[in-house]
Parts: sequence; structure tokens; C-alpha cells
Amino acid sequence: MSAHLALDEPEPAVADDGVWLTCIECGETFAPFDDVRYTCDDCDGLLEVRYADLPTWDDFGAGGSPESGPYGVWRYSAGLPFEEGVSLPEGGTPLHYVPSIEDEVGVNNLRIKHEGMNPTGSFKDRGMTVGVRVAKEVGVNRLACASTGNTSAALAAYGARGGMETLVLLPAGKVAAGKVAQASLHGARILEVDGNFDSCLDIVQDLAARGEAYLLNSLNPFRLEGQKTIGLEIMERFHADEGTYPDRIVLPVGNAGNTAALYKCFRELREAGAIDESDVPKLTGVQAEGAAPMVEAVEEGNDEVRRWDEVETRATAIRIGNPVNAPKALPGIRETGGTAVAVSDEEITEAQRDLAEEGVGVEPASAASLAGLRKLRDAGEIDDDEDVVCLTTGHLLKDPDAAYEAGGDPEPVPNDTEAVLEHIDDGSPSVFETVREQGSKAADSPLIPALVAGGLGLAYLYRKLRSEQ
Ligand code: F0G
Repeated sequence: MSAHLALDEPEPAVADDGVWLTCIECGETFAPFDDVRYTCDDCDGLLEVRYADLPTWDDFGAGGSPESGPYGVWRYSAGLPFEEGVSLPEGGTPLHYVPSIEDEVGVNNLRIKHEGMNPTGSFKDRGMTVGVRVAKEVGVNRLACASTGNTSAALAAYGARGGMETLVLLPAGKVAAGKVAQASLHGARILEVDGNFDSCLDIVQDLAARGEAYLLNSLNPFRLEGQKTIGLEIMERFHADEGTYPDRIVLPVGNAGNTAALYKCFRELREAGAIDESDVPKLTGVQAEGAAPMVEAVEEGNDEVRRWDEVETRATAIRIGNPVNAPKALPGIRETGGTAVAVSDEEITEAQRDLAEEGVGVEPASAASLAGLRKLRDAGEIDDDEDVVCLTTGHLLKDPDAAYEAGGDPEPVPNDTEAVLEHIDDGSPSVFETVREQGSKAADSPLIPALVAGGLGLAYLYRKLRSEQ
């Protein structure tokens, strides 16, 4: 582990109420809220939020229901810089069972953590509830981000909730319709840049450096504090259901903020003694083939990621060539024994359809996690006895065009019941006939009289025993 990712440093004098910022490159420490800063003053390295006291499971709120106290992200306030934030509220997302896909992929357990069920439909809400709270603390009033879409939707909503002006920079023509609609209705100023996401981020960083706006991309270390609660929820829920922690978490990677946030979650749980080293899930990142600089770095064993200037994929949310959180995320993948894999757009669409068949509606980038799991299983890199959680990061409705393309076409029919019947009657029996047929088949089965007789016998025995008591 790089020296400055260890969490055993003493509390520095600059700490405010047991919270401070540490540069992961040079180890310099900073007060958390005195100044607006996103990277190290000395070496420009990434900053990480640090705490004098790290919580264990008992320190978190009980229950996790709206009745028993703060719900979702703020249930974990013992591990966050504040007691509460600008909240809608967020987190508390489902960990779905997907039995058919689990069978087909061939792992011991497969669960889907569906982050599309957050208030604005993606995991970004977890970061924004903390980030916008910090913006209030440091006293700024204009918030900004570059985005492939979801960050802009979340920033617009949380900025509106916090009563602050929001500015979002989007790559023109490359953001899914649902996300632009959200940013627009929540009142963000939408600046469409003739460039890709990475150029948008370059510009927002310049604006932030000039003090024109408070940057709320995942370069902002406070965003990742909120996002680490994904890991806390997965670990707690999985352990409650299965009595063990998952062996692996597979997630889509763009800027690698989530990968960094999960790794921080596991480092903190270990440092607090809440889990053992062997409990840490293997972080496994998935990128689209047309935008895979992290995969390249993992495969080639590089410590740094080469920026890809040309990127393309149908999964527009992860159409990113310069993952700024790589210095935090690459050690996460390596230290946990994970890996990274690239998948094609076709593999992504197939996974999106398969999840939809189990009732789980996700946007293309999200489906990359399942596509990646499949690919690694086929390559023999993941064993059949593993317990795996795939993260699906955004809701199906975020990208309605992709959903239409992946789904079935509507069938035009005349405005007339008989004609509709004729249209749907393709020779197969009607729904009612099918149900009736199955009912009579079941009654004909030799099993039925046997079961009825067995049931009557048991009822007789039970009554007899009770009367003898
Ligand atoms: N999945 C979805 C749906 C996303 O929107 C993003 C990132 C990712 C995965 C990748 O997450 O950056 O933490 O590795 N979207 C950003 C945005 C870039 O602007 O909405 P990451």
C-alpha cells in the first residue's frame, strides 16, 4: 500500500473536531473546512478525508428504517464529517436476488446492489448529500461539475434543495436524455461543451481554481465520503442475509471515484477492527472497450493511467478517458486482489436485457458490471464458489433511448377491441384458457390425491394428539 493510504497517522493539529484532509501523495495534512481546496497545495496530489475515531458496526444507527432514525447515508453519520446533510434522503438501496442470472453465471451467490433506486436515480446522490453540506460549511454559493449526466442531475437536485446556484458542463450530444431533463428541471445552468467529459472536467477545474465555483466532481474528497456508504450497506446487508461478507464487488468504472470510495470504506472498517483483512471483498472494475484506460493500467501493471483522448461507448455514463481518481482506485484493485476487465457494447446491452428480465431496470453503464462478471467467469478468473455483488449504478429511465433500443418494439393496433384481440391472438390459447388448463392438469395429477390424503391424515393425527393432552 502506498505510504499515505494507511489510516494509522496521528491526529494533526489542523484537525477540526477529529476531521482533517491528508494528501495521499506527500502526506501533508490540511484543515478540512477553513479553505476551499480539492488537491494538495504542495504537490497537487489527491486529498482524502481522515478521522481521529473510526466507527465500528455498533456505532452506526440501528434499524435503518425511516422510523428508527436517519435513513440511508446519514444512518452512517458516525463515519462521516457531519451528523446530517442536505438530504432527499438517499441510500438504503435494495440488494436484489437474481436467481436465474446467478444460475447461469454459476457463482455461489449473486446479488445486485441497485443504486438506480436513489432519489435522482444514481449513486451520485450519496456523494452530493455530503458535498453540498460541505459547500454550505465553507460558505460558497455557486456549485459546478463536469458530467456524463448523472452527476449533473444529482448536483442540480441537491443544489436546488440547498438553495444554491448550479452550473453543469456536459459533453454536447453525449448525455442521455433523462439526465439532461433532470438537470434542466431542477434549475441548473447547462453548458454544453464541444468536447468530451475529460475536457469538461479540465474547464470546471480551471473555474474552481479561479474561485468561480465550488467543484463537486469526485475529485472533491467529501463526495467519496458519502459514496463509501454503498460499501457499508453491502457489507451489513450481505452479512445479515448470508452470515458472511461478499468475496467480490464488481462495479462499472469511469472516473474511478466509486472504486476509490469502496476501497476507503474497507480500509476504515479494517482499521476500526470491524472486519478482518480476509473479509475485504476483491474490487473488480469494469469499463467499456472504447473507454478502458484503467483496464489497460491493471493489465499492464502500470502505477499510472495513460489518458485516452478518443473514447466511445453506448454506455455514455462511463465514456471517460482520464480517470482522475486512479491514484486512489488502482491500489484498491491491487491490494484487495481484484482485477479490471473491458466489455463490448453488445455485452453491455445483453446484460441490461437480462437484468430487466429479472425486473431490475438499469442504464447501460450499470449493466457493465454484470457483463464484466460474465466475462471473468468465462475466462476462469472468478471461481464458481464465490459470493459476488454487482453494483448497478443508474436507473433504466436515465437513458430511455438505450432502453428502447434494447427492448421490444411497440405494436400499433386499431382502436377496437375485436381488432386488438385478433392482433394478440397468434394461435396460442388465451390467458384464461391457459390458467384453466393448468388447473385441470394439476387436478388430474396423481400427486394431488396423495397430497390431499396426506394432509387429511396429518390433520387427524394433530387433533387426536391435542385431545389426548
Ligand atoms: N455508472 C454510472 C451510471 C455513472 O454515471 C458513472 C459516472 C459511473 C458508473 C462511473 O463512476 O466515475 O465513480 O467510476 N458518472 C459520472 C457523471 C462521471 O458525470 O455522472 P465513477
